[in-house]
Amino acid sequence: MSTFYITTPIYYVNDAPHIGHAYTTVLADAFARWHRLLGDDTMMVTGTDEHGLKIQRAAEDNGVTPQEQVDSTSVLFRDAAELINVANDDFIRTTEPRHYAAVQELMQRVYDNGYIYSDTYEGPYCVACEAYYAEDELDDGNCPIHQRAIERMVEENYFFKLSAFADQLLDYFENTAGVVKPDGYRKEVLGLLRQELRDVSISRSSISWGIPVPWDENHVFYVWYDALINYATAAGFSSDDEAFEKWWPNVHHILGKDIIRFHCVFWPAMLLAAGITDLPKYYVHGWLLIGGDKMSKSSLNSVTPAQLINGDDEAGYVAFGVDGFRYHFLRDPAFGPDNDFSYEQMVTRYNSDLANQFGNLVQRVITVTGKKCGELSPAPSPESSLAAEAVTAYEDTARAWENAQPPVALDATWRLIRETNEYLAANEPWKMDEGAEVDTVMGDSLEAIRIVCILASPAIPAAAQAAWERIGLPGKVEDQRLPEAASWGGYPGGLTLVSGDPLFPRLKG
Ligand code: MSP
Repeated sequence: MSTFYITTPIYYVNDAPHIGHAYTTVLADAFARWHRLLGDDTMMVTGTDEHGLKIQRAAEDNGVTPQEQVDSTSVLFRDAAELINVANDDFIRTTEPRHYAAVQELMQRVYDNGYIYSDTYEGPYCVACEAYYAEDELDDGNCPIHQRAIERMVEENYFFKLSAFADQLLDYFENTAGVVKPDGYRKEVLGLLRQELRDVSISRSSISWGIPVPWDENHVFYVWYDALINYATAAGFSSDDEAFEKWWPNVHHILGKDIIRFHCVFWPAMLLAAGITDLPKYYVHGWLLIGGDKMSKSSLNSVTPAQLINGDDEAGYVAFGVDGFRYHFLRDPAFGPDNDFSYEQMVTRYNSDLANQFGNLVQRVITVTGKKCGELSPAPSPESSLAAEAVTAYEDTARAWENAQPPVALDATWRLIRETNEYLAANEPWKMDEGAEVDTVMGDSLEAIRIVCILASPAIPAAAQAAWERIGLPGKVEDQRLPEAASWGGYPGGLTLVSGDPLFPRLKG
């Protein structure tokens, strides 16, 4: 059995969760759910990034200790993941003892291997990024990402010999198939690697809110070098060697394009320096924008997941429900480029794909079967014209998930829904007399719904399970295994159907 380990970036706890964070987390969850269907032993981890100057200052501003600050905000991210029905196997916080142990062990190894030295550093620093910049990277004297004034910092720091790993990293990103998806971002990484790699500062003596450097108690690790190690901590580094050996060779990081350099340049170099030769693979997505601005707490346009899921009368948002929320963020924004968030598009997508196409199909098939096919449901015909459509739907869906294209995957799955609706419209079973002919049409439609439930479940897990139960099937959709479960003919017939309210009630715009 293959293993699949997928992580989200760990979120800064100075900010409350917004839909930009939820977007990343839902993507990771959907990839994980797809791999579970494939039968891969899968682990999905998310969590919070709790050290650094930004947090220390947020705590000062709020008049609380850093620990109080992180405890109260981390839980918001934990709750946000639960709200959007994320099946994470772990939630890691960088203030946990297991993480302190992992950071200190990994960095001690890097130090013992001779890749860390002490020096003075002076340079422009952006607190929002928690990063130093080179003078020539500034934008009119401002941070190139936040467009805010930078601060000058002078520190006696420990430095990591990043420059020692340029060739190995180039080799990795040039010669490993599918190492970064989409491929455009792999080229961006190669561009970063072909510039001169400057050694980087990895410790701070000016702040106290961090993980102590084990060989020098006057320093704490710079927050990014503590944060990146969370991925190893959660896999068992320094606490469970067997687990680490199992998960690490198949680690996949999903991240926004803003943090490519840390993940694709610094992090693999540190792993190599610590003697860990299995390097991560990456899924990189663009930003969600509102009116062209990156979403953040400071943006007045910030929208929370809860507002869209539960509705917010004051803000004028209807309730999309959890699956309506997830479906939009997986189906509409192309994976890779930046995308403008559009509330109107979200309503349109919900009504067309979820209410009209999927919800109505389930409703209609259950109603007509109940009227025309007796107590128990009919089985599909092996020669149905829908069988070939189901094969194509599976193949196209699988290929697109593999290529990190959720919108393409869902479009392929929804094609089978549309074809089943057309099959019903062409055959008009509601006009037929009871008998073999109508049984075949309805058995075929039930079988198509069964397959759709499986293929759609990474995006809309709750609705897929509900539809599965309505067509009388026992057990859990998530326990089905592909590709076998998508083969035509799996619906056994002879089941009791369950009618109910629409799965996706139509929304008013
Ligand atoms: N703490 C660091 C990550 C450390 S990982 C070892 C961090 N945190 S963050 O909370 O600022 O952002 C984390 C991630 O949230 C981004 O990389 C991105 O994946 C996601 N997003 C935050 N805002 C976003 C948008 N407006 N749009 C899309 N994704 C966004 O960076």
